[in-house]
Amino acid sequence: MCGIFAYKGKRENASEIVIEGLKHLEYRGYDSWGIAYKSKAGIVVEKRVGKIGELDLNTIQLPTSNTAMGHSRWATHGTVTEENAHPHFNEDQSIVVVHNGIVENFQELKNKLIKNGHTFKSETDTEVIAHLIEDYMEVGFENAFKQALKELKGRFAILAMHRDEDKLMAARRGSPLIVGKGKSEYFIASDIPAFLEYSREVMYIDDNQMVVLNDTPKFYNIETGEKITKRIVEIGWNAEMAEKGEHPHFMIKEIKEQKDTIARAINQNEKDIMKVANEINNAFGTYLIGCGTAGKVCLAASYAFSEIAKKHVNPVVGSEFPSYKHFIKKGSLVIAVSQSGETADTLEAIEVAKQKGAKVISIVNVEGSTMDRESDFSINIKAGPEKAVASTKATTAQLAILTLLAYACVDRLKEGRKLLIETASKINDMLNPRYEQHIEKLAEKLRGHESMYVIGRAMNYAMALESAIKLQEVSYIHAEGFAGGELKHGPIALISKGTPCIALVANDETKQDILSNAIEIKSRGGYIIGVSPENHEIFDYWLRVPDAGNASPIVNIIPVQILAYKLAVMKQNNPDMPRNLAKSVTVK
Ligand code: AGP
Repeated sequence: MCGIFAYKGKRENASEIVIEGLKHLEYRGYDSWGIAYKSKAGIVVEKRVGKIGELDLNTIQLPTSNTAMGHSRWATHGTVTEENAHPHFNEDQSIVVVHNGIVENFQELKNKLIKNGHTFKSETDTEVIAHLIEDYMEVGFENAFKQALKELKGRFAILAMHRDEDKLMAARRGSPLIVGKGKSEYFIASDIPAFLEYSREVMYIDDNQMVVLNDTPKFYNIETGEKITKRIVEIGWNAEMAEKGEHPHFMIKEIKEQKDTIARAINQNEKDIMKVANEINNAFGTYLIGCGTAGKVCLAASYAFSEIAKKHVNPVVGSEFPSYKHFIKKGSLVIAVSQSGETADTLEAIEVAKQKGAKVISIVNVEGSTMDRESDFSINIKAGPEKAVASTKATTAQLAILTLLAYACVDRLKEGRKLLIETASKINDMLNPRYEQHIEKLAEKLRGHESMYVIGRAMNYAMALESAIKLQEVSYIHAEGFAGGELKHGPIALISKGTPCIALVANDETKQDILSNAIEIKSRGGYIIGVSPENHEIFDYWLRVPDAGNASPIVNIIPVQILAYKLAVMKQNNPDMPRNLAKSVTVK
């Protein structure tokens, strides 16, 4: 869950390019950072605890260099200190590495290296890689790197440099790594936004592959040593899409982008949608898998398939899916839903599904991501770069595609498209400054509370769970979502005078029941915030949303996203980089 980035080319400000690029990857990890660059004196390393986004370039000396690499860390092994921040050197500081992932057998390797006389400066698993390469150096840097990789267990993306070699080495197994091609210059990064300013031409490094970057990159299979030819892919994102622009945070920028992203998401090739719908119709069983917010999207979609397509699909949390492997067989269909396409738990679920002979389709935002490439077929949700840790525009784009698929399953694609286009235009009307101010006033009332609850039914039960995630991750207020009907089975005991409770009320067959649940809460003293197309007497505060029929989860989640954002800002939390969380969870 870290960001790594390297530059090699003709420019002489390599370290500055790397620092600026790392700022774009900060969403992947932000407890400390470091860079290594080549200078006449050897390899120089600069490390700091804290966010790289807060670094003022005037406070750091960066001599000219045309090769540099860096890392934005999210601690796994070893506490957050400068010593544990990457890059890590070997003994004589001739080899330096940065790493994303976990070296599962690091203790075993470390013990062996200590016996061989190596001494370690950090508590990290990464440092063993630099020492391990050193141990093999008699076969030359390139081969030593290859040898070291063979000994590592676990998922990784690694970059390495040697003081006396004009080469950058990179390797991947399970953690993303992409090469960007510029004019006589190359970039290697965990994610595309790091180098979007310079290049939109990319080469994807696949699992068990490494790159030797000299003047041009040479790709090899780590296991067999076989040379690999890579295709250059032009990507559809531009640098502006990955910038905050006039907005104070990415989260609010991305919330507002939902004016456009829903319409963009459903603007898919009809053949592709019908292909997936046919797969669902013909499957022995369909599983929708995702983690966190994507998992809640899967749950919402299972209700949409029931309602619209009269079809049973099984929503399963990514990390839980391997326990269902006993039911999976040839003919089963797994649809993986993910913004990043790199979530380790979802990737593992895909691996299990494939081993059992199931077909895998992914619904992802990041083109060329591991999930995209590991699937038999994939649909891109076209939300553009989502950089805030809290997923917003990707969530509603995923909901839109899955709703469309439900319609497509019963040959009602046109009707589905019409509904979603109308919903997109209603969202456009809803997202205005007055609406934001109205939610800000509510945030003022709620900011001092320790707990709040969200209730919903059917599709909006899933959105109640998603609402709780949004509120938890950025406002740090304890929030929980419940199915309205479940209250009386326990949770209602939590309600006392003034407890805020958000009721997601859709204009459908669940309306009367969810209103009754809200009344039950109110009669115990709860403060009812109604998210609904109509105002009801029982609401203490009304957040109006358009009536969107089967697209109600899309419109209902948006005011909660705004509320979570406003609460975060009021409480002086950074909504883009909430504590203890990273955008891409690439570890199990
Ligand atoms: C969303 O707000 C969360 N940060 C998180 O739950 C996220 O949805 C989850 O980690 C899955 O990520 P993915 O969509 O990239 O697979």
